[in-house]
Amino acid sequence: VSAASPRRVLHFGAGPAALPLPVLEQAQRDLLDYAGSGIGILELSHRGAEYGALKERAEGTLRRLLGAGDDWAVLFLPGGASLQFAMVPLNLGAHADYVLTGSWAKKAWQEARKLGDAHVAATSEATHFDRIPRDLDLRPTAKYLHVTSNNTIYGTQWREMPEVPAPLVCDASSDLFSRPLSLERHDLIYAGAQKNLGPAGVTVVLLRRELLARSPDDIPTMLNYRVHEAHQSNYNTPPVFAVHVMGLVLAWIEAQGGLVAMAARNEAKAGRLYDAIDRIPLYQGTAVPADRSRMNVTFTLSDPGREDAFLAEARREGLVGLKGHRSVGGIRASLYNAVEPEAVERLVAFMEAFAARSG
Ligand SMILES: Cc1ncc(COP(=O)(O)O)c(C=O)c1O
Repeated sequence: VSAASPRRVLHFGAGPAALPLPVLEQAQRDLLDYAGSGIGILELSHRGAEYGALKERAEGTLRRLLGAGDDWAVLFLPGGASLQFAMVPLNLGAHADYVLTGSWAKKAWQEARKLGDAHVAATSEATHFDRIPRDLDLRPTAKYLHVTSNNTIYGTQWREMPEVPAPLVCDASSDLFSRPLSLERHDLIYAGAQKNLGPAGVTVVLLRRELLARSPDDIPTMLNYRVHEAHQSNYNTPPVFAVHVMGLVLAWIEAQGGLVAMAARNEAKAGRLYDAIDRIPLYQGTAVPADRSRMNVTFTLSDPGREDAFLAEARREGLVGLKGHRSVGGIRASLYNAVEPEAVERLVAFMEAFAARSG
């Protein structure tokens, strides 16, 4: 919290999520005059030189952070991660396998089922998605395997992607850029920006160029990866502001030391919070320890009747966004990149004091 914005609270919401303060301050300046152009960023043409340069910079930073070379296409698309649930099977073929690790994974599978015979390779639904299933029932003919790297609602996360024969498609909406990832195990990665990357409105899709050949000509133009790639994500008017802020966030990540530094910072924050959950009897983690997410820490109170008081008192102390997803309840603290370690210290101190008051 800076002196310039004394009313800002500590934001643990799951998305749209906290953004780095220097990024918000830069975006604020750019609203009136982008880079000395005399035009605000919201007014800038997507066909002009300024946008072309900022988009190229954002893409360059993204490629450097991930180590993605020319064999990867990088697209900035509208429609959120939810549109990718349909675009992936439309472009790659819907005879595909899905691992169901939460509500978002299930939605992706349900969308693919509308388009073909999407098959469940594994699911942890029987145990309320408290873990990542290990045994995968893979079909040799599958066009791809779809996984969700981090389960925003249930607080579980794949430690490592599985090595499988089919192309691996990963919904990384809630952990892309929070840690290094092994690109060689992936074939398509997508993420809505509004957690670790920027504001809502832009979705990043990275795919191996060779997959572009699969996009059929007869699918709607706006849903065709090949069209977006051919037009460098400028087929229609892109979300200029969202792409700009994403570029600022990516530059901020790079300046912090890149993905290795992000992973260390996120690991430490999550470790601190899980330690409190395991130490204080009032709190119970909901995910099995081996599969706990570093991004979304989910827990309940042993006295569920105290949850409303927990949330209300936290809010009074400036700790907001802690209510679990409406479908599961409980408490969820999202610890995305921009959440400062000091915010986690404040949360842990609050949890200790609240537990002491609860006797
Ligand atoms: C893992 C995951 N996938 C997909 C979505 C849906 O994203 P969007 O709202 O951008 O469509 C979310 C949103 O929270 C998510 O966490």
